[in-house]
Amino acid sequence: MKLKRAEISQEDIDRQKAIMERLRAHNAGSGAAPRAFIDTYGCQQNESDSEKLRGMLGRMGYSFTDKEADADVIVINTCAVREHAEMRVYGNVGALVHTKRNKPGQIIALCGCMVQQPSVADKIRRSFRHVDLVFGPQALWRFPEYLERILTERGRIFSIEDDPGTIAEGLPVVRDGTVKAWLSIMYGCNNFCSYCIVPYVRGRERSRAPELILSEAKELIAAGYKDITLLGQNVNSYGKDLESPIDFSELLRRLNALDGEFLLRFMTSHPKDAGERLFKTLAQCEKVAHHLHLPFQAGNDRVLRAMNRGYTRTQYLELVDMARQYIPDIVLTSDVIVGFPGETEEEFNDTLAVIEKARFDALFTFIYSKREGTPACRLDDPEPKDAKQRRFDALLKLQNSISEEKHREYVGKTLRVLVDGESGDLRYPLTARTNGGRLVRLSGNAAPGAFGNARITDCNTWALFGELI
Ligand code: SAH
Ligand code: SF4
Ligand code: F3S
Repeated sequence: MKLKRAEISQEDIDRQKAIMERLRAHNAGSGAAPRAFIDTYGCQQNESDSEKLRGMLGRMGYSFTDKEADADVIVINTCAVREHAEMRVYGNVGALVHTKRNKPGQIIALCGCMVQQPSVADKIRRSFRHVDLVFGPQALWRFPEYLERILTERGRIFSIEDDPGTIAEGLPVVRDGTVKAWLSIMYGCNNFCSYCIVPYVRGRERSRAPELILSEAKELIAAGYKDITLLGQNVNSYGKDLESPIDFSELLRRLNALDGEFLLRFMTSHPKDAGERLFKTLAQCEKVAHHLHLPFQAGNDRVLRAMNRGYTRTQYLELVDMARQYIPDIVLTSDVIVGFPGETEEEFNDTLAVIEKARFDALFTFIYSKREGTPACRLDDPEPKDAKQRRFDALLKLQNSISEEKHREYVGKTLRVLVDGESGDLRYPLTARTNGGRLVRLSGNAAPGAFGNARITDCNTWALFGELI
């Protein structure tokens, strides 16, 4: 099925831009610049969205504060992926009742994945009456319009229409860092893993036009960014919905050909769509970092099938072997879920076995969280919580020992690193990343954004330590 292209029209974007100008003029006439506070939960995609929120607020004449109490506008960009993230949002939004009581006229907005769920929006409508504005990820580009309406008419706005998804180009962006940047290449997800809420709240897969990605990358490089991460829920599906015949590997090649000294990363790759073509590209493109984030989620075939992941344990391990054949120094990271409904002790042991075989450099580990509306939510889940916790702890222990062993292998070596920040640590005042993305704490002198060589002298589970030479 060919999807209808999802771009928001230039006319619609221009209308938002006109509103931003209007609000800017309004705010300039009212003395000190009003202040905005933005809080972001969830993944890099949400962080990237928050950079657009900041861009729009900046364009509307807002300055920024990190104190809710001082803010004229509070925006909370939420995540729905696990219950824990939602509970934190409810807790923090609940506390804002008092903040708003002390600062009447304060506007509180909730956006992002969590509020796209109708049940959540209903709860906010009924029980969080101090929230003025609620809008889902598909409506992000309409933020200026909503804000203006609330400022002029008061009342509440809820905008969470079920929409297969939009692409809004040309919104202003204020980025968080000066060395690393996010670059979205696509939005949404079509995979419907049975435990996952993302496809329901982020809509269908849709790819940005390659020319626009390339021109944004050029702007980033010209602005001095050195570490660019391409974002998508499954970057390996890039281009499938585009007229022009281009896939993710081809996009990487075109980006790799841009002038300048920089590194390209990407996330996430779905194992069912990753393969030789991608690994060849990584091996051949000198600016593409030797890092692959390849979530495996579970090590047992029955569980993988129940998760609707589209690969078996053997296929996954073969993929890892192939990646290492093409790129021997690849840094491999992954995601895993413990306690999927019905997962038995033996099935969990298969997950441990995959961890031992694949020997990931690092692992993002999660205990299964039931998400209303997903197929897995209807499955029997007889395993008690403490059994899941015990397994989770065992898994973490195994992975920590592997991570440390892997880090040991770096000690004594000299590596090219990118200095990306400063820390308060007197012994290791700099932070840096290896090409593969491992954290290095460094002694020496360099400005963030500089590439340099580091001799690795020590390590622990989470970081390497060394000196710039
Ligand atoms: N699109 C990415 C991941 C997005 S969510 C991918 O497919 O790899 C990030 C991670 O959260 C997932 O990889 C999964 O490990 C975890 N996750 C998603 N839904 C979850 C749930 N219901 N419970 C626990 N972990 C979950
Ligand atoms: Fe969720 Fe699966 Fe899509 Fe990743 S690929 S966002 S885990 S449905
Ligand atoms: Fe990301 Fe959370 Fe949404 S992980 S896509 S912010 S549900």
